[in-house]
Amino acid sequence: MEELLSVENLTKTYRVKRGLFKTEEVRALRGVSFTLFSGEVLALVGESGSGKSTVGKIVLRLEKPTGGRVLFMGRDAFKWDRAYTRLVSVVFQDPRSSLNPRMTVYEIVKEPLVVHRVKNADERVREVIRRVGLSEELLYEKPPRLSGGQAQRVAVARAVVLEPKLVVADEPTASLDLSVQAEVINLFKELNEKGIAFLFITHDVRVVEKVAHRVAVLYAGLLMELGPKEKVLKRPLHPYTRLLLESVPARHPRLRRPVEGLEEEEFTVPEQGCPFLPRCKEALPECSRTVRRVEVDDRAVFCNLY
Ligand SMILES: Nc1ncnc2c1ncn2[C@@H]1O[C@H](COP(=O)(O)OP(=O)(O)O)[C@@H](O)[C@H]1O
Ligand SMILES: [Mg+2]
Repeated sequence: MEELLSVENLTKTYRVKRGLFKTEEVRALRGVSFTLFSGEVLALVGESGSGKSTVGKIVLRLEKPTGGRVLFMGRDAFKWDRAYTRLVSVVFQDPRSSLNPRMTVYEIVKEPLVVHRVKNADERVREVIRRVGLSEELLYEKPPRLSGGQAQRVAVARAVVLEPKLVVADEPTASLDLSVQAEVINLFKELNEKGIAFLFITHDVRVVEKVAHRVAVLYAGLLMELGPKEKVLKRPLHPYTRLLLESVPARHPRLRRPVEGLEEEEFTVPEQGCPFLPRCKEALPECSRTVRRVEVDDRAVFCNLY
């Protein structure tokens, strides 16, 4: 397998103003490394605030890392020219805010072709619209007239019209109804079968089950576990991965109940030792001092239990 994207020891510290004189540092990423292969779907999972979108934004060059680097096809992402935006594109969570409400579907999907001066734009817009399962009749509608599912298909069409090698999808189904979610997930699968790789950011483990080849579990800006989907979902090794999987919501919202210890309180992240320690039920005495990264059962696990 060919390496497409390589994220190396990425760190990101945001400086946030608190009042007039104080600034506070938020350490969003504390050293994240992973590789994404050509044609692969790598799911990046973790609770809200774990740093998923920050990884996505850096890969998309929308944010600069504080430390570490991103290599795309062997070259530093930040040293690429504009060809980068042709090869790496994005689908955001909410098409209602990511699509310009005043532009027609036709204009929205055509825009990247115009920016990159691609020939036969008209033909390619029509082709991609069919490919994402929309009717050409929608080409002259504007986003406010579309359903959530249709609008997200338009966002996907815009993302793939230049035939990118990698799409960063940040919670692309989270704003959709369950029935529509399944359709859009199938669309992502079809596009992946045609060779597009995905960095698929989600906090929904059911989505991972459907689309991913491998899963990377992020907690407090660090990867806790990374491995093949089947292994990580069926036999999670890291105590945090287990907690995350237990919290899979019931299909019906009324049956959902919060899992103890998840997204209810804010936990402080220790500066030393394991970041997950304050929530871990299996902690060992050494966890307050150090934490090991080990390769076990086809996976990288950041935990002293192995
Ligand atoms: N632009 C920003 N300015 C300050 N803090 C930020 C900014 N973006 C993200 N953060 C903080 O960084 C952490 C990680 O955020 P994010 O990457 O959005 O996580 P996720 O996508 O997993 O929910 C959070 O604590 C968040 O509040
Ligand atoms: Mg996010």
